[in-house]
Amino acid sequence: MPFLLLLFLVSFGSIDQKGVGTFAARASPDLYKKVIMKQLQGKTALITGASRGIGYAIARKFAAAGANVVFTHLSNDEQGQALAEELRVMGSKVGVYRSDAANFAAVAFLVQEVVREFGRLDVLVNNAGITRDGLLLRMDEQAWDEVLRVNLKSCFNTVKAATRTFLQQRSGVIINIASVVGIKGNAGQANYAASKAGIIGFTKSVALELGARNIRSNAIAPGFIDTIMTKDLTAAAAQDWAKAIPLRRVGLPEDVANCALFLASDASSYITGQVIQVDGGMLT
Ligand code: NAI
Repeated sequence: MPFLLLLFLVSFGSIDQKGVGTFAARASPDLYKKVIMKQLQGKTALITGASRGIGYAIARKFAAAGANVVFTHLSNDEQGQALAEELRVMGSKVGVYRSDAANFAAVAFLVQEVVREFGRLDVLVNNAGITRDGLLLRMDEQAWDEVLRVNLKSCFNTVKAATRTFLQQRSGVIINIASVVGIKGNAGQANYAASKAGIIGFTKSVALELGARNIRSNAIAPGFIDTIMTKDLTAAAAQDWAKAIPLRRVGLPEDVANCALFLASDASSYITGQVIQVDGGMLT
């Protein structure tokens, strides 16, 4: 199919709905991938805590889908700059900020800067998270407060800061990274489970409040994902976990990123207030 005709079809949008997309994909698969499959083209996404792990995979996935990607990290400047360079090579306009997601004022400033620099904000991914595990009897106040601040309050901070822009744009997508532990609970993780259950309640409340303004709010509840956060488990323990998972493997950051891409894109335009488990069937 001639390039100009394909571009013409693309420029009229929703061609998949008209069935022309399939035709275009067959006629020129490479061009289709390059031009049509950029699900986040022209969108700006902000991801917290993305210098490694799940956030890193989401940042790369979004850049590959055509988004401009802004991400934060807390301390590892080298990793942050390396990721920024990777994303630029993928053609993304990139913003990288050292910013504490748990700090209300810092997040308000961050979002202001992103909107000033990028002109808009379309997708917000609350990914920053920590664990301070321990049985309740031994858990001190600091371990409780830190986890609640970083995991849960951070979501309030970013959503609060981004809502005005979303309202002005009459659109916005919020994706909060919760956990299966927030659904089921977990011995030794009372603080973490409470923070993730809080995220789920927050996600649904935001969906109810802002749905009428075309702002969608969903959560992803990953199961056991292979990142630094889970590195302390011995190989034997990891294998035991995997045996109990219907898909018989631990998850990869990429598995979560695929779900985030779906929720960020218009492919999920009628989905809000949901918690999607990316857990290989673990809680089934
Ligand atoms: P990770 O430890 O590799 O990454 C967490 C990221 O958050 C790091 O880049 C870290 O610098 C950043 N971060 C921590 N505190 C921050 C703060 N105050 N401000 C800004 N950034 C901060 O962990 P992973 O596994 O990639 O986790 C990402 C998210 O997924 C977390 O919310 C975690 O709770 C969640 N999750 C992870 C699971 C797993 O099995 N790895 C399972 C379920 C949920």
